[in-house]
Amino acid sequence: MNILMVCLGNICRSPLAEAILRKKANEADLDVNIDSCGTSGYHNGENPDPRSVENASLNGVDISELVSRKFQQEDFENFDLIYVMDSSNYKAVLKLARNKMDEEKVELILNEAFPGENRNVPDPYFGGKHGFQDVFDLLDAACKKVISNHL
Ligand code: 4NP
Repeated sequence: MNILMVCLGNICRSPLAEAILRKKANEADLDVNIDSCGTSGYHNGENPDPRSVENASLNGVDISELVSRKFQQEDFENFDLIYVMDSSNYKAVLKLARNKMDEEKVELILNEAFPGENRNVPDPYFGGKHGFQDVFDLLDAACKKVISNHL
């Protein structure tokens, strides 16, 4: 199983989602390939935001070595499930879908934890420190469900 996490910059939310899911999968001895990317490419080649790195570390997750890259159409070929963090990422990814099968791979990640509610993971980039822990808690709950529902 190949799973891709997608946000806007690939420096705050999706690297966290990637590392949280990888940690849970490793702990459960599950064979899954996980990656993350952004729809924008604004931060191509950069490591995650230092505030996200610090908050992840406080929660026992290391994201310091991850590197931002932009979502590309070939990702539809390489991944079985594509989780987007918010409705804006959803639209951006859907725009590149080539067919119905591509479209069906894309899901708002919080629909795993809150089915049918179409909630967004709030973008912590322009907010205070507090936002990063909220994001961590939401993604932790969602990744738990990704494991129990799909792996
Ligand atoms: P992310 O957060 O999408 O969770 O990585 C953001 C990172 C950078 C920007 C916006 C959101 N930006 O505008 O540069």
